[in-house]
Amino acid sequence: MSRILPADARGIRAAARALAEGRLVAFPTETVYGLGAIVTDDRAIARIFLAKRRPHHNPLIAHAADRSMAAGFAWLDERAERLAEAFWPGPLTLVLPLKNGVPVSPMVTAGLSTVGVRVPAHPVARRLVEETGLPVAAPSANRSGRVSPTTAAHVARDLGETVDWILDAGPCSVGVESTIVDLSEPERARLLRPGGIPRERIEALIGPLEGAASGGPVRSPGLLGRHYAPRRPLRLEAQRVAGDEALLAFGPEPLAGARVTLNLSPRGDLVEAAANLFAMLRRLDEADVRAIAVMPIPREGLGEAINDRLRRAALPAEPVA
Ligand code: TXA
Ligand code: MG
Repeated sequence: MSRILPADARGIRAAARALAEGRLVAFPTETVYGLGAIVTDDRAIARIFLAKRRPHHNPLIAHAADRSMAAGFAWLDERAERLAEAFWPGPLTLVLPLKNGVPVSPMVTAGLSTVGVRVPAHPVARRLVEETGLPVAAPSANRSGRVSPTTAAHVARDLGETVDWILDAGPCSVGVESTIVDLSEPERARLLRPGGIPRERIEALIGPLEGAASGGPVRSPGLLGRHYAPRRPLRLEAQRVAGDEALLAFGPEPLAGARVTLNLSPRGDLVEAAANLFAMLRRLDEADVRAIAVMPIPREGLGEAINDRLRRAALPAEPVA
């Protein structure tokens, strides 16, 4: 079993040493738990892909301690500076041109000329990257395609002994992954993944965001198709629920009749709903039910990210090649 360490000063120091020795460390961020390795360490980065069973064409996010560490390996233009000023540290990832000649493992970028960068707000994540002194690549600490972990126990259950250390700081406060904005082309800004910073707040600073490119080359391979998926079928926009189903409810009037019900936010608060989403999906998935029915959830603010995760969790499983 991997070792779970409390995320106090000693634990963080030990975890930073472990990263420097090429080990994998799962750590809390404000969005979800990440599975970290130093960006320059090819062998450790390769172990991340193995542990997650992640396809190699899917790049990783590099976590920096601050903007100047980010600027050490990525080009920030004026738009990126403006968003970084407003939302870093925080749940925003920028896809930016990678600087030439920096020793970032090509597996981090999946061979692209761009890199995903974020400065996490969670004090444990920031201290860990600071102590490490180098950017830390970290995908969500779950098996590829499954629900992201929002507690240390989720990580231990998903990844078991393939992760060396897990820093435990309790549940994540935001609960959905970072918003990803692609600024790698000067004239375009694309929303690759809705997430912890609502689209409206980003558009207020840099104007309208385009959708992820369709038809063209794949820009963010990990953002396509089924993902965030529990084992049981998910039925969205439910208006009623059957006795052999579980219900993921939202708001003050949950549907009646489910075998088991969890409410994302009885008061209809999208911030609370995002924080509860993945943990509740996991719990309902463990129930003895035929399917999980999900009540409609508003689309504004964090609702865009919540609906995105639910929609992709509900896609039919594709045969794995
Ligand atoms: O909140 C988060 O972003 C969490 C925490 C741990 O920071 N991390 C996370 O990582 O969600 P991951 O690997 O589960 O999702 C990152 C997504 C992937 O879908 C990947 O395809 C995309 O970011 N991505 C990373 N680098 C990219 C790049 N250079 N261009 C386009 N997409 C990129
Ligand atoms: Mg993920």
